[in-house]
Amino acid sequence: MKHKLLALDSGHPGQMNALDEHFEVIRPAKPDPERIIQEHQHEIKALTTYLTPVSRNLMEYLPNLEIVACGAVGFDHIDLEAAKQRGIAVTNTPDVLTDDTADVALLLLLNVVRRAVEGDAFVRARMWEKGVFPLGHTMAGKTAGIVGLGRIGQAIAQRLQAFNVEIVYHGPSEKPEQPFQYYADLKAMAADVDFLILACRGGEATKGLIDHSVLKALGPHGFLINIARGSVVNQDDLLVALSNKSIAGAGLDVYDNEPRVPEALFTMDHVVLTPHIGSATIETRTKMGEIVVNNLLAHFEGRTLLTPVI
Ligand code: GLV
Repeated sequence: MKHKLLALDSGHPGQMNALDEHFEVIRPAKPDPERIIQEHQHEIKALTTYLTPVSRNLMEYLPNLEIVACGAVGFDHIDLEAAKQRGIAVTNTPDVLTDDTADVALLLLLNVVRRAVEGDAFVRARMWEKGVFPLGHTMAGKTAGIVGLGRIGQAIAQRLQAFNVEIVYHGPSEKPEQPFQYYADLKAMAADVDFLILACRGGEATKGLIDHSVLKALGPHGFLINIARGSVVNQDDLLVALSNKSIAGAGLDVYDNEPRVPEALFTMDHVVLTPHIGSATIETRTKMGEIVVNNLLAHFEGRTLLTPVI
């Protein structure tokens, strides 16, 4: 008999077919998703999510839940404390998305610094025939401060070195094996860099880390890049800093309340916006889906989990 699995979202390429093969998949569909979950409440043993929150309430509602297989590297949307207390396993999808996500940081940085998206709109609107496109800025010789020098932060650093950008970093602790200068003080680092790049974890520990005072330190020549989580930035403070031009610009892949993005950003030329595409390639998302499925199979076959969070 197949175990029942609650799929909170539609999964990565190939994921649903593979899950259907091994599990009885419960899809909380409209018009009454809650009723569908309620019908299977006591038999659901596994749950998959990408970025849909998994709260303590939901876990309490599923008394026989054994595993949450998350199809993302970040797990700030899962109540780990509640899972731990219940002995529910939680897995994620690290490593396979590192390169793609680091690429998006560079994509945003190059675009905003060299005004590429703005340039594209300029050409399409036939403005080039009427006037000169404004100048951007040089990458080489600048300094980037990376917040969170984990796997993705290090992959960003590696790419930036090819652009002759100097690297410094901030995080909860120094990594002596890294060749880059460490700043324990985030504000001091923001004041010293041209590009502030966020690659840290989301969650309570980093909530609102980039606030008015950090943006002020970054200053009118500094650019902010966020491929981490919207929650790391105080979005209201960022909107004020961007509208006052108290920072030079921003490249954003993540937001506070996705998929809703503050309207004020839509009219800003010095901002480049992407819809949370860090890992959004066919190759990487397929691998992420495989990890989700393989973690679930490992769990139910009594094997060691591939990528446990807890
Ligand atoms: C995406 O944001 C992820 O955490 O994988």
